[in-house]
Amino acid sequence: MAIRSIRIIDQDDVLRKHARKVEKFDERLHTLLNDMAETMAAGNGVGLAAPQVGVLKRCCVIDVGEGLIELVNPEIVSREGEVTVIEGCLSVPDRAGKVVRPEKVKVKAQDRNGEPIEVEGEGILAVCLCHELDHLDGILYVDKMIEDATEEMRQKSGGDAQ
Ligand code: NI
Repeated sequence: MAIRSIRIIDQDDVLRKHARKVEKFDERLHTLLNDMAETMAAGNGVGLAAPQVGVLKRCCVIDVGEGLIELVNPEIVSREGEVTVIEGCLSVPDRAGKVVRPEKVKVKAQDRNGEPIEVEGEGILAVCLCHELDHLDGILYVDKMIEDATEEMRQKSGGDAQ
């Protein structure tokens, strides 16, 4: 495994591009997912999407403290409720902002071998699923932010980096 360099907002157009569907579930994809998990852990993040390491493939990794989740070609199939949360992003260092997200989401995806999987998340997991899926369409949380929360993040522990 290897730690890959995380692309930073305003320095790299790749964060603004639409990622392509994964068609090959091969060694190359497995290496990418392994490296993404290691890169996320090294950055103390709770999620990381492939465009954040410069790869325009529709996949992401998530770990909100309940074990590693790998999602390939994920799609939100249902959402419920609404909650305002403080988010951070590994590609937007040292900043945080308030974003309105669903309370619960259900996501359909494939695993690293192409098998269909479904993940249901609420709370931080729901937020993280939405945040990572946005990355695959070139959307960053700052686009949806209703209020800057950088000061709040500095004072307490809000704003998980994703
Ligand atoms: Ni992010």
